[in-house]
Amino acid sequence: MISSRRQLPIPYFISIPGGLQVAKVIRVSGTVLPNAKRFHINLCTGENITFHLNPRFSENTVVRNSKIKGSWGEEERGLPTNMPLLTGHSFKMEIICEAHCYKVVVDGQHLLEYTYRVKELSTINRLEVDGDIKLTKVQV
Ligand code: GAL
Repeated sequence: MISSRRQLPIPYFISIPGGLQVAKVIRVSGTVLPNAKRFHINLCTGENITFHLNPRFSENTVVRNSKIKGSWGEEERGLPTNMPLLTGHSFKMEIICEAHCYKVVVDGQHLLEYTYRVKELSTINRLEVDGDIKLTKVQV
């Protein structure tokens, strides 16, 4: 399912029919606002945020975590390169469902992997985007 317009509402919610599966690719494009502090992309089950992907411009990193039964787990913060997402700049992000992890690609460059904490991919059936961006395209 593709939603593509000049600008999508924020916060943005879309259901993922049938949930995730290995080899599925989610695409999110937008422009980071000039004074952005943060934004996030969440992949959710009913009650849990199974993958919280959270670029933080004040901290110059992308925080990753999961919120299960109301509690945040341990953050993953390391990046192999400089922060590829920049305030005021557009980006194209892909979240690829691999066998054991999400793989995140920004503007065609591999950025990070996040090992599944919730392994039942078919139950992960909602995507949310919120924060300091102009959202232009979401494909689930
Ligand atoms: C918290 C923050 C949440 C989320 C979480 C990730 O401090 O309030 O929005 O980003 O960190 O670990």
